[in-house]
Amino acid sequence: MHTEHLSPDANGLDRAAAILSAGGLVAFPTETVYGLGGDARSDHAVARIFDAKGRPRFNPLIVHVPDIASASRYATFDATARLLAATFWPGPLTLVLPLRDDAGLSPLVTAGLSTVAIRVPAHPLARALLTAFGGPLAAPSANPSGKVSPTRAEHVAAGLAGRIEAILDGGPCAVGVESTILGLQGAPALLRPGGIASEALEAALGQPLATGGDSAKPSAPGQLASHYAPEAPIRLNATAASAGETWVGFGPCAGAALTLSPSGDLIEAAANLFETLRRADTLAGPNGKIAFAPVPDIGLGRAINDRLTRAAAPRP
Ligand code: TXA
Ligand code: MG
Repeated sequence: MHTEHLSPDANGLDRAAAILSAGGLVAFPTETVYGLGGDARSDHAVARIFDAKGRPRFNPLIVHVPDIASASRYATFDATARLLAATFWPGPLTLVLPLRDDAGLSPLVTAGLSTVAIRVPAHPLARALLTAFGGPLAAPSANPSGKVSPTRAEHVAAGLAGRIEAILDGGPCAVGVESTILGLQGAPALLRPGGIASEALEAALGQPLATGGDSAKPSAPGQLASHYAPEAPIRLNATAASAGETWVGFGPCAGAALTLSPSGDLIEAAANLFETLRRADTLAGPNGKIAFAPVPDIGLGRAINDRLTRAAAPRP
């Protein structure tokens, strides 16, 4: 299949919406990473998303909608969910909520669960595409399963060209790590750290978050131990490069080949994370290794360390 490259204008959006309406797949930019979008109501489109990514079918997908009113057609909101949606949407927060009986989503999207992960993205092109298409879009990150997430249209093409109908090119993603996923079955639980810092969620909720991550029994596949993996092996918390290593710094790191942020800024580091992983992989070459300087485990640093830990984990 030829993968069309669509420009971020009215023509590109029209074409993207037409492909989605015909059951095809379009990768599109969000503020976090590029998503691989398909009609969340269509079994055929959703099955093709799993096939294009090589993703296990027990891993449910996030449903993207333009606003809270549309989200309410698919999920039930209690007072906590309403507060969080009003505070953080549009933006990089995904809420796992009870699925409505009359939602009309493909059961493949939710992997047969009674809950649905739903988010309202902030990126103007994602929003324009949701409006032009006029329905819910299932969209996992637009990369082959287990590999580094895409923050540029070129990254999507490198992983999925020939397997999807089109890529809507919106340039680099501003946030750079995936959305924070919050479970609201019982006490609010952090299922995946991401683009909204857990400190901000705790401030809005007025209570600490429970942690829901369990790599043995993942409720979110971002929770699988090995994920985001480049070709080269990775060493973490490296304060200097050893022989054969490409060292990636954070803040002042004399001798680093690359840096996540020269000034030690966590927001900048998150935005650079996946692109830097790809560059480090290229620099390291076939027998090289990658070493990362320590990143503080606060704010967006938690999402960065979560991704780096999984990138460094033993591969299946
Ligand atoms: O920023 C993002 O969230 C990006 C952009 C494209 O929106 N999307 C993304 O999707 O990261 P994906 O498929 O790579 O990650 C979706 C996560 C998975 O970890 C999945 O297990 C979890 O959402 N998830 C989906 N439905 C769920 C549910 N009902 N309960 C628990 N986790 C769920
Ligand atoms: Mg992903």
